[in-house]
Amino acid sequence: MAVSICGTGSYIPSYTIDNNGIAALVDTSDGWIQERTGIRRRHIVDGETTVSMACEAGRQALTSAGVSAEEVDLIIVSTISSNMILPCAACEVQKELGAIHATCFDLSAACTGFLLAYNTAAAYLAGGIYSTALIIGSESLSNLTNWKDRGTCILFGDGAGAAVLKADDRRMYLPVTRADGAKGSALTLKSRHDWNVLDVKEKRDYDSDGYFMQMDGKAVFQFAIKRVPEAIRGVLEKNGVRQEEIAWFLLHQANRRIIESVAKRLGEPMEKFPVNIQEYGNTSSASIPILLDEMNKKGLLKSGQKMVLAGFGAGLIWGAALYEWI
Ligand code: ACO
Repeated sequence: MAVSICGTGSYIPSYTIDNNGIAALVDTSDGWIQERTGIRRRHIVDGETTVSMACEAGRQALTSAGVSAEEVDLIIVSTISSNMILPCAACEVQKELGAIHATCFDLSAACTGFLLAYNTAAAYLAGGIYSTALIIGSESLSNLTNWKDRGTCILFGDGAGAAVLKADDRRMYLPVTRADGAKGSALTLKSRHDWNVLDVKEKRDYDSDGYFMQMDGKAVFQFAIKRVPEAIRGVLEKNGVRQEEIAWFLLHQANRRIIESVAKRLGEPMEKFPVNIQEYGNTSSASIPILLDEMNKKGLLKSGQKMVLAGFGAGLIWGAALYEWI
């Protein structure tokens, strides 16, 4: 038993801020941002929410798959930036789409979230527990970004991407995923919900330190360029697939230089590593499904092509999965 991706979708907010717009907020420049990251502009929510973007991307993926909402029996939303904690974003998506038969939950694994949503859904489908899954990565990171910190605010953007998966009887590829919680301090974001009655009694002010993303950029960069090639080699070896069989390497879009470094370490041409970070910035768990949907819409994905999906980010968490396009 394996899975097929039978439809994709995405939603991108129309409001954009280019690098000059960021340079009006903090001490940076278009030249610096483009050279160090490859980013030219990013789309930012302007009325949309993580849930509303997830619904739009999910609706599009169902249409593209020719699957009705009632047929979906699993919805997983990967996000670290939902406007809803209760109910979870996946239940909100279920309600909006009318997916009345679906089991729904959210998954929190930052930029590796979509990869883990894919693996989780694939395991459920391969195990015969569910037969049709809608997986979505949706993020409004602009709400979690400190717009006074030039070390982070240049990087992030908002958007959502989705895929519909169905169980089928093709070959099942096993993923490689890892985590290193001991290095989690490289990228942190505090919950806004750790202020309670004791703080009131002690007359402690609500302390906003840490309620925006904080990052040791260099540490994350070094981690990514080492671990991602390892995970890719690992997933190929685990499944007995040769690297030259891979048509596409779809990496989380965190920084163009990270993608270039991974390509170089693997000895592969950049043509096999699609990049759209120039347009969207880092959209965390939405980046891989947005890229997948773009490629699908452009007709770049051909039947029988093998691809690697690779995610990495906060946690630290990273991994890679193999997929053969139907
Ligand atoms: N504009 C201008 N100058 C800047 C900026 C900026 N926005 N940011 C830093 N600088 C300066 C620094 O102060 C430093 O100056 P100095 O040499 O005088 O001290 C110089 O530029 C170099 O700074 P570095 O931090 O070494 O820059 P680097 O080349 O490492 O690029 C960056 C920084 C872009 C953040 C990079 O480290 C990176 O992309 N890291 C990976 C981040 C990432 O992928 N994070 C997301 C993970 S996904 C998730 O889970 C959410």
